[in-house]
Amino acid sequence: MGIISKLTGCGSYLPKNVVTNADLAKKVDTSEEWIFSRTGIKQRHHAAVGENTSDLALIAAERALLHAGVNGHDVDLIVVGTTTPDRTFPATAVRIQKNLGCDHGAAFDVQAVCSGFIYALSIVDSMLKAGQFKTALVIGADTLSRLLNWEDRTTCVLFGDGAGAVVVQAFEVDTNSFHDGGILSTHIHSDGSMEDLLYCDGGPSTTQTTGYITMSGKEVFRHAVTKLASVVTEALAANNLKDIDIDWLVPHQANKRIIDSTVKKLNMPKDKVVLTVHDHANTSAASIPLALDRAVHDGRIKRGDLLLMEAMGGGLTWGAALARW
Ligand code: UT7
Repeated sequence: MGIISKLTGCGSYLPKNVVTNADLAKKVDTSEEWIFSRTGIKQRHHAAVGENTSDLALIAAERALLHAGVNGHDVDLIVVGTTTPDRTFPATAVRIQKNLGCDHGAAFDVQAVCSGFIYALSIVDSMLKAGQFKTALVIGADTLSRLLNWEDRTTCVLFGDGAGAVVVQAFEVDTNSFHDGGILSTHIHSDGSMEDLLYCDGGPSTTQTTGYITMSGKEVFRHAVTKLASVVTEALAANNLKDIDIDWLVPHQANKRIIDSTVKKLNMPKDKVVLTVHDHANTSAASIPLALDRAVHDGRIKRGDLLLMEAMGGGLTWGAALARW
């Protein structure tokens, strides 16, 4: 006998307020054409005043629980990937725990910026397989609009707000009989020597402010292309799989040109890629579960499909996960 962990439901939420490229061009020295041609972004959603990361996360979590047919009281682990917590402390995850009416188990946040969902999934996968918890919520939620410097056109057009969640459950299986494997493997990396390529220039122990996003876009782009290619190769090799085995690539949605390069590397048909960046820009930790939820609920992703998820973000951090839906 052994324990596998499986994705059993997903949900997501985007704030109602839509900001188009044309809206931005009215207040920033940019154009609809520049933003779309360089990134693939057409619009983003911005949280309303008073609408916090935990509010977006809670709706995504409730939808994921409903989809999985799991009651909030049965959740014994909540891990939130976020860079924009409601409060400096405690973790946004404990607020979600309270708001779900969940009074046992553990809840904490993970800070890996745009790789936050993959990091959170990796931690939860290990904890479930170790037999420590049974039913987990993995949430990616961010309100990066709160960290934008409207005087910096090189970053302020790129980000949006949103949340996505998955329910992950542990199942005991007979390892000698057939089972689909659930989450096959996760792979996470970081290289702190590149922390200055993408960071927020504030912090509780330095400026006592939250600060603004600062990015060396071209260099981050270059690293994204090579590091994502390397980590997806690593994930496939670890499972003795080939690129043709993948049913769906569910990538972090930062820039369509970065996604296109991973697709080229994997030699995948474009209709096997879930693309949502046009609709909500870069939502940091939320972008993979937002894309997953879109393709599950519109019927593209079906039970048993093999998913490859990948992301890279500030840190630099990067990672990938292979899972059967
Ligand atoms: O999720 C975390 C990971 N983040 C990323 O993956 C982002 C990675 N980087 C990128 O996606 C791209 O580097 C950007 C979209 C940020 C920039 O695209 P680029 O093709 O690398 O453009 P660039 O930075 O080389 O800028 C080209 C030109 C510059 O003008 P000059 O110097 O050629 O005259 C910029 O000043 O575009 C100008 N520019 C803009 N023009 C209009 C920069 N931002 C804007 C803007 N509107 N918003």
